[in-house]
Amino acid sequence: MSDRIPEEMVEEIRKKTDIVDVISDYVQLKKQGRNYFGLCPFHGENSPSFSVSPEKQIFHCFGCGAGGNVYSFLMDHDGVSFKEAVAVAGSKIGMDISLQQDETPNEKDGNTKQLYKDQQDAHELLAKFYHHLLMNTEEGQHALEYMLQRGFTEEQLKQFRIGWALPSWDFTSELLKKRGFDLSSMEQAGLIIKRDNGSYFDRFRERIMFPVENDRGQIVAFSGRIINSDKKDEPKYLNSPETPLFQKNKILFNYHRARGAIRREQSVVLFEGFADVISSNEWTANGIATMGTSLTVQHIGLIKRLTGQVIICYDGDKAGYEAAFKAARELASSGLKVKVALLPNGMDPDDYIQKKGGQAFKQEIIDSSVSEMAFKMHYFRSKNNLSSEDGRLTYIKSVLKEIASLKEAIDKEFYIKQLSDEFNLSIEGLSQQMLSLMPQEQTEKEVQQPKPSGVFQRKSTLLPAYLTAERHLIAHMMANEDTAYTVQNLLSGKMMNKDEHQAIFTYLLAYYEKGHHSDAGAFVHMLPDRHLRAIATEINMMDVNPEVGSDELNDYVAEVLKYQKLLKIKEKQVEEKEAERKNDFRKAAEIGMEIIQLRKALKR
Ligand code: UTP
Ligand code: MN
Repeated sequence: MSDRIPEEMVEEIRKKTDIVDVISDYVQLKKQGRNYFGLCPFHGENSPSFSVSPEKQIFHCFGCGAGGNVYSFLMDHDGVSFKEAVAVAGSKIGMDISLQQDETPNEKDGNTKQLYKDQQDAHELLAKFYHHLLMNTEEGQHALEYMLQRGFTEEQLKQFRIGWALPSWDFTSELLKKRGFDLSSMEQAGLIIKRDNGSYFDRFRERIMFPVENDRGQIVAFSGRIINSDKKDEPKYLNSPETPLFQKNKILFNYHRARGAIRREQSVVLFEGFADVISSNEWTANGIATMGTSLTVQHIGLIKRLTGQVIICYDGDKAGYEAAFKAARELASSGLKVKVALLPNGMDPDDYIQKKGGQAFKQEIIDSSVSEMAFKMHYFRSKNNLSSEDGRLTYIKSVLKEIASLKEAIDKEFYIKQLSDEFNLSIEGLSQQMLSLMPQEQTEKEVQQPKPSGVFQRKSTLLPAYLTAERHLIAHMMANEDTAYTVQNLLSGKMMNKDEHQAIFTYLLAYYEKGHHSDAGAFVHMLPDRHLRAIATEINMMDVNPEVGSDELNDYVAEVLKYQKLLKIKEKQVEEKEAERKNDFRKAAEIGMEIIQLRKALKR
């Protein structure tokens, strides 16, 4: 073993770092009571069961059981050694621990690390050279003019370290050689290519060079754009090949830079081209793009670490529509909220910005993005001729299929109602038809468990927030009888949304009123119904703190009531539309006011 980090230092760093801060770099956390909650990065989930305690400086996932302190988090999450985890945590509070004389578990590992470090350094060096060539030299002048004339500003060129690769076969390879880089390693990094005779030539020649950074802001690849229009047979953009440093399925352009903005905006804008990311950056700093590949699960994982909402902003052409449709489906099915920003026919975001300006782009396109369902309806409409009966039927079926895949019962109801209004069809008929379009397994669950709160309620282990809140409330009530009365007061006569929860709630209060003291085991046994006993037992398994704070209880209760208010708003929206349809604008306006009031109440 080589030198260890001194024990005192490990302790000092642990004490000085805030685990909430560290984990916030990876997981989007929301404060709820004393703890923070988010989606667990260690297992796929759609409702937050991952909690971080600022007091205890630990994290714990109720879903998969992962847990530990700041070091265990970094080790598990990044797959790094203990020493590296200490170094990462240290760097966050400005304590630099040099890992140069790092442990070398075996020779090969050390070599590989050095290899990657060289490749990394080569990218940084080249980016500097290319950038200099573009900005300050005669050789780069026409390229600079091209970029400026396209509308890129000098600031953008600097910020994104954009450069110019000379029309030379060996400028890069000679430079790398002169600087002492091992050329076969440079070949592995995709920067140069080996000839049959063993000599090397440059991959990127006569191209505008866009550096591609990894999630730590290190340049790991380039994409080079052609500007010479007689080179018709070459690709417009030439990207670095797959290398150990550059795995396209894991890299999102601008991810590193956009991180802060994505958290602040609570959303990310997903573009098709990285040129769009650059030109919109001043107005939408939360923009990212894939590197010419379609979206992968790894990309989605990177997005989910930061936010729950994605605004897809693809090109306004047929290919863009198709790609947006596909991306929307994938993003939504992994639990992200999706909106789609639609561009006028034939334009891409960059075109729009050049023509109308960034301000207009932000307001008219990004801030005017439509819901996933609205986009899909739009998409199906564009594919079907609604003036023919056939077209209408295909359209309705396509939309019903999408409605069937919605998670929330209220959303299903809402869009079914909309379809029924639009085509003058009965809600019952449409609902029946939709059921037949649902995936088998889901249908069974929904048919077995019809719920009064909605037409269809999906039973799932990935619970929506209001159900999680109800479960927590009951758990706390079972653990402590004072808490039970507190919750009763907080709810002040309002019911829990899930019938079984309301039943357990009522039995529990009766149990205490009879003079029993809190004893969850005993209480569960006296429940008269097997189904209720099963639910109560499951809740009892949750490990809750019996000394719960009133903040936390308040938050849970707010969540329960919020769902009821949301239902009310949806109901009102349908009424409003109905009134508009009947040209009763006065009534519609009145309902509109009520909706505003309800929304305000929701915020409180
Ligand atoms: P686009 O062709 O839409 O590029 O490709 P763009 O963003 O409008 O670029 P400009 O305005 O013509 O300069 C979108 C993305 O597809 C990948 C790139 O990642 C690009 O950002 N692509 C495109 C390639 O990888 N190779 C190509 O030849 C073309
Ligand atoms: Mn473009």
